[in-house]
Amino acid sequence: HNLDTLYRQVIMDHYKNPRNLGQLSDDTLTVNLNNPTCGDRVQIQMKIEDGQVETAKFEGEGCSISMASASMMTQAVKGLKVNEALKMSKIFSDMMLGKEYDEDLFDLGDIEALQGVAKFPARIKCATLAWKAMEQGLNEQEK
Ligand code: FES
Ligand code: FES
Repeated sequence: HNLDTLYRQVIMDHYKNPRNLGQLSDDTLTVNLNNPTCGDRVQIQMKIEDGQVETAKFEGEGCSISMASASMMTQAVKGLKVNEALKMSKIFSDMMLGKEYDEDLFDLGDIEALQGVAKFPARIKCATLAWKAMEQGLNEQEK
């Protein structure tokens, strides 16, 4: 198996078996975001308590990469402090842009599979949609 095959499998697994799909009844923030280039949309909901992401859910309509990325993101931010989640978002965006990032700061787990997408500039927006929504929500709530 080459790396691309492995990455594709991880992405398809999240697409077919999304983690944290649905809506929260006790959310403290909700963000809806569209990808203007295709019209796909994602909704991110989180419950923040004492500066920590207690839980996160998503729903939306979009391509496999956008939905898989939302699934991975909600899984990854659960239990993180708000500032850690924002840091992780920065790492993710650096990873997608092919910049250097600190690999040891977090266990990126499945998220690393999205590196396989970074070679296709048109798909980077798909992969970052849910992350932008998360970042927007957390930044607003920090105010
Ligand atoms: Fe060759 Fe998986 S067996 S790529
Ligand atoms: Fe629309 Fe990927 S094609 S988010």
